[in-house]
Amino acid sequence: MFRRAVCPGSFDPIHNGHLDIIERASRLYDVVHVAVLVNPSKKGMFSVDERVSMIEEITAGYGNVKVESHQGLLVDYCRDRDIPAIVKGLRAVSDFDYELQMAQMNYGLSGVETLFVPTNPTYSFQSSSLIKEVAVLGGDVSHLVPDLVLRRLTERIAERRAQPTNP
Ligand code: PNS
Repeated sequence: MFRRAVCPGSFDPIHNGHLDIIERASRLYDVVHVAVLVNPSKKGMFSVDERVSMIEEITAGYGNVKVESHQGLLVDYCRDRDIPAIVKGLRAVSDFDYELQMAQMNYGLSGVETLFVPTNPTYSFQSSSLIKEVAVLGGDVSHLVPDLVLRRLTERIAERRAQPTNP
């Protein structure tokens, strides 16, 4: 019986802090599912398929990471795949309130456990939204994201700049 866990998130896009948690989870579990959760009310910088394919490419070397997208409740994703544990990174105390609420809700809905991994301090200030904001405004984010993501971010920002703006 494989020991399975899921690392869920929006991953728009994946950054080094996410990758650190996925890599650590991949050493603790036989199979780590990375679930890119679809939020239909949020338009991301990258489509869900683009996020999945970036994560697949970046994590290919780990050997035990499976990347999928999912629309709906995380606990349904876990139930359908027999996944008993959710692994989440905690960057700071400010993350804790909301993460605790989600962990308790998920446990109450289905009995799935949530395990918190303290983020490596090198990555504790990282978030996808801040990285996008800095990149769009011309800041250097090369130390915060994998090379592939940096290339895709640079391309996407250039594409957006080239588009005519709405009146
Ligand atoms: O990367 P994020 O946006 O912080 O990840 C949050 C995410 C996607 C893990 C969370 O919003 C989630 O689990 N969404 C799936 C829908 C769901 O199960 N909602 C109830 C949570 S208790």
